[in-house]
Amino acid sequence: MSKTIQTVRGMHDVLPAETASWQWLEQVLRDLMHAYGYREIRLPLLERTELFARSIGEVTDIVAKEMYTFEDRNGDSLTLRPEGTAGCVRAGIQHGILHNQIQHLWYMGTMYRHERPQKGRYREFRQLGVEVFGLPGPDIDAELMLLSARLWKQLGLTDLRLELNSIGSSEERLRYREALVRYFSQHKASLDQDSLDRLQRNPLRILDNKLAAMKPIIDGAPEFTEFLGKASREHLEGVREILEKAGIDYRLNPKLVRGLDYYNLTVFEWITTALGAQGAVCAGGRFDGLVEQLGGSPAPAVGFAIGLDRILDILHQQEQIDTQAPDICVITTGQVISAEGIRLAETLRDALPRRSIVYHCGSAGLKGQLKRANRSGARIALILGDEEQLAETVTVKFLRQDREQCAIRRDELANLLTTEFENESGKK
Ligand code: HAM
Repeated sequence: MSKTIQTVRGMHDVLPAETASWQWLEQVLRDLMHAYGYREIRLPLLERTELFARSIGEVTDIVAKEMYTFEDRNGDSLTLRPEGTAGCVRAGIQHGILHNQIQHLWYMGTMYRHERPQKGRYREFRQLGVEVFGLPGPDIDAELMLLSARLWKQLGLTDLRLELNSIGSSEERLRYREALVRYFSQHKASLDQDSLDRLQRNPLRILDNKLAAMKPIIDGAPEFTEFLGKASREHLEGVREILEKAGIDYRLNPKLVRGLDYYNLTVFEWITTALGAQGAVCAGGRFDGLVEQLGGSPAPAVGFAIGLDRILDILHQQEQIDTQAPDICVITTGQVISAEGIRLAETLRDALPRRSIVYHCGSAGLKGQLKRANRSGARIALILGDEEQLAETVTVKFLRQDREQCAIRRDELANLLTTEFENESGKK
């Protein structure tokens, strides 16, 4: 028999057992985007190779080493998108939706990078990207950080820290670059091969080197802050002020530079310690020059992308999602006929359309059904027996909380359940 064909390395099938987690996360993200008034844009997976070379930068790791590039049947060089910002800007220019306009956009989907796969790093991965066009002030940069902080809260992610830096204007970057080349050239003998390769081509990226032996040299390198002019400093101060007023903790990291060339001023990353080396779960910054660079009329822009595979990896690790579990199990017992139970479940589905409600837990007796309801992971069991039938009530049993069960009048049940679920998501 011939060998079976497997997935390409670094690419994953999402099997039915996992799709529920994805759908749940995607819905949380859609709701969040809606709450901030951002609108979805859907972009092709394939773009002209030139788009990425011109935006991300020829000498970045992504463009130099990681793209899936091929010639199509016409001999055009095409690339599977390694990220979404370039395509979003291309689409915005092509369809004339950026010129003199403010746009709050988001997209979600797969990206492709030929990196060495490991935990949290895949060759096909999913991002939520957010890009705002037409607003130059620090307030919108801060809004993006507040928006992401709200998401962590909703997801129950607590160990994320925000790192912030400003990489100034292109002139300031040029001067900083020269200072770095001077500094690292004095330490040439201690640089690893990777850093030597980057010394002339992309010295800022040396700051990203994670080798322990390089740490003392990197720690001693000049910091961007010294090279920022007045306007850049004020912009950074503006972002900091809003974050501080909003109570968002952050750390200024003057060595944070990002691996894509299109950034200026604000750059930021949310980092976790839960995933080993692949700590960044969300990253972005300002890219005021990119629209013009790709042929549009100048438009300020800022955005970020979240690595969704990493988010789900952490949530699973912390056992924070069990989206397979129903919310409610309806149990009938005694003489109560199943038609009554089905009717109750149907009424609740009308009242709570987003909740998953299972009718009938398989066994005959009350004890057996409760056991199954418990094992299913459901949060609430509703019991409809002879007593309840007589009194026109339902017994509500909280399966995941240390609380007394209670009898509730049928006409009050939907309200009570709505409040219960609202309180629960508020606590997360
Ligand atoms: P990036 O830092 O290259 O930025 O990627 C953003 C996030 O995508 C990372 O922080 C990480 O969570 C996730 N990610 C990146 N590579 C992988 C991988 N191989 N496997 C799994 N997850 C990965 C960008 O892509 C920019 N377009 C962000 C942006 C939007 N800047 C402005 N607007």
